[in-house]
Amino acid sequence: MSGPLNALLDQDMPADIVLKSGIIKAQPESMFQVEETHIAGSVEKRRREFRAGRSLAREALGKLGIEACAIPMGPNREPIWPAMITGSISHCSSIGVVALGRRSVYEGIGVDIELDKPLPQDIPELVYTKHERNSTQGSSGIQNHDTLTFSAKETVFKCLFPLLGFYFDFKEVTLGFNTAERKFTAHLPARIAQQIGRSQLVGHYWITEGYILTLAYLKASEHQE
Ligand SMILES: CC(C)(COP(=O)(O)OP(=O)(O)OC[C@H]1O[C@@H](n2cnc3c(N)ncnc32)[C@H](O)[C@@H]1OP(=O)(O)O)[C@@H](O)C(=O)NCCC(=O)NCCS
Repeated sequence: MSGPLNALLDQDMPADIVLKSGIIKAQPESMFQVEETHIAGSVEKRRREFRAGRSLAREALGKLGIEACAIPMGPNREPIWPAMITGSISHCSSIGVVALGRRSVYEGIGVDIELDKPLPQDIPELVYTKHERNSTQGSSGIQNHDTLTFSAKETVFKCLFPLLGFYFDFKEVTLGFNTAERKFTAHLPARIAQQIGRSQLVGHYWITEGYILTLAYLKASEHQE
């Protein structure tokens, strides 16, 4: 699977995160039986994106020296990675993306890809905190800031859900953007901070080839900067 965003992302990626992107193919990728059961009743589009994600994930695992293995789906749709790995999957339109790292370095990793276009009209209202709405600080300065904010919060969710085991709302997380470095900081509410022992996490964003891509991670305690 070729990676349309891979060249760009290789330049800026934290060195110990493997990120793979690829076109979602029409013809079936090879899958493990347990994975097929998750999409047995799904429509063709869903089967393709699920298979593309698993295929990219195996490529990424290979880069970390881990043999191809099944990546089943957990009870809340989260991917179940090999014990020493953490990571995340996203798909949008014709592209799939996977980000992986070693658990010894990262407690959690989240990734999300969205089309670089405005969100449907009623969505931004659900995404912003009051502080984000009333403040011009923290703006990314990009045209589709609403979509970037949505994507960054989805990324934060995917990074943290496997550690927390509970859902949380977009409005519980407040983002601040560093436009010069194309980074964001996610400020977390007390109920999350208490559980993970950190009150914020770091993220990166890229706007390229008509897509917005966001990545967030939580470093293991001994690797904190
Ligand atoms: C699941 C969700 C994060 C993204 O789903 P989506 O819109 O289909 O978008 P994406 O394609 O980017 O991501 C789908 C992938 O997310 C991953 N995912 C789904 N649920 C997950 C969970 N609970 N934890 C971690 N990863 C999850 C899966 O790998 C899935 O792909 P797969 O089913 O092919 O394996 C979103 O729909 C959701 O449920 N969000 C919860 C609320 C939220 O985001 N709150 C924000 C808090 S700040």
